[in-house]
Amino acid sequence: MKAAYLEQFGGPEVLQYGDLPDPVAGPGDVVVDVHAASVNAADWKFRAGQYARHDNIKFPQIPGRDFSGAISAVGSDVHDLKVGDDVFGVLNAGKEGTYCEKIAVKAAIIAKKPPALSHVDAAALALTGLTAIDSIENTLKLKRGETILIQGGAGGVAGFAIQLAKHIGARVITTTSAANRDYVRDLGADEIIDYTAQDFTQVVTGCDAVFDTVGDDVARKSFAVLKPGGRAAFIASGAQAPKPDRSDVTALRPPVPRSRAAMERVAALFAAGAIRPPAIKLYRLPQAADAHRLSESRHFRGKLVFQVR
Ligand SMILES: NC(=O)c1ccc[n+]([C@@H]2O[C@H](COP(=O)([O-])OP(=O)(O)OC[C@H]3O[C@@H](n4cnc5c(N)ncnc54)[C@H](OP(=O)(O)O)[C@@H]3O)[C@@H](O)[C@H]2O)c1
Repeated sequence: MKAAYLEQFGGPEVLQYGDLPDPVAGPGDVVVDVHAASVNAADWKFRAGQYARHDNIKFPQIPGRDFSGAISAVGSDVHDLKVGDDVFGVLNAGKEGTYCEKIAVKAAIIAKKPPALSHVDAAALALTGLTAIDSIENTLKLKRGETILIQGGAGGVAGFAIQLAKHIGARVITTTSAANRDYVRDLGADEIIDYTAQDFTQVVTGCDAVFDTVGDDVARKSFAVLKPGGRAAFIASGAQAPKPDRSDVTALRPPVPRSRAAMERVAALFAAGAIRPPAIKLYRLPQAADAHRLSESRHFRGKLVFQVR
């Protein structure tokens, strides 16, 4: 099969394109002919060696965590999916490898793709949807009538989170650069702060919740906008939430477990009209280095997706 892969960690230029062996379906696995795979920020962090325990990594390594495609083989013990089913999902935590034409994945953590959702859109919504749902619904337990600040509104996870928070009935404040103001308004944001012109800590107060997708200083400063008893969830600050600088708020790190139920929740939110796919820039696998350069710049809108087939 064709794949974009690494023979070493490094800059975007280490991404190569060529032939690697086809995977086989082990017990409980299906092989999926990948139609689309999305670029997530985790992919360039992985490529750069930021996640690697170098002794355990064997090259070649294929990056990529989510996909949409059609099942082409079924392993033993798989009875609920069959060859020809269109499916989408996210690889198990700690696994990479969707920038390619075929993957083997546990059947139990993937779901059928709604027919009305294209493969490209399904790939774009897979890890972003899983993460936003686990953050907004399971971790922050956001409720109707609450106010949430979502940091980084034009990104993939935050764009899903804005729509989900509005679907729940919350009031949404978000941060973005001026170029993405209309984009986040269309997603449903009630109040938009241009972070290049305004310090959010000066204009936002009394939030019930914060969802930070930006990290670093933005994450650390986010505690300031919470009301007493408020809660904040962080997905761009590593494995632990930053420690709050006040004692009357809670800092949370969503665990983002993979499951078929979570993918079915993504599909159900799409089918209900609560979530629509983000803005998407398409790439082909040989352009993986270009896609990583843009992803790593952290200034684009929505999602970058490989159209594989
Ligand atoms: N399981 C997990 O824990 C998990 C899963 C998915 C993602 N993540 C992490 O979550 C983070 C977000 O990922 P993502 O893919 O959604 O988006 P991303 O690619 O990391 O972010 C892109 C967006 O960030 C915005 N942005 C950059 N700096 C900003 C700032 N200072 N204030 C407000 N917005 C800013 C940009 O908008 P402008 O162009 O307008 O600046 C752009 O739209 C990443 O760190 C990723 O690794 C974690």
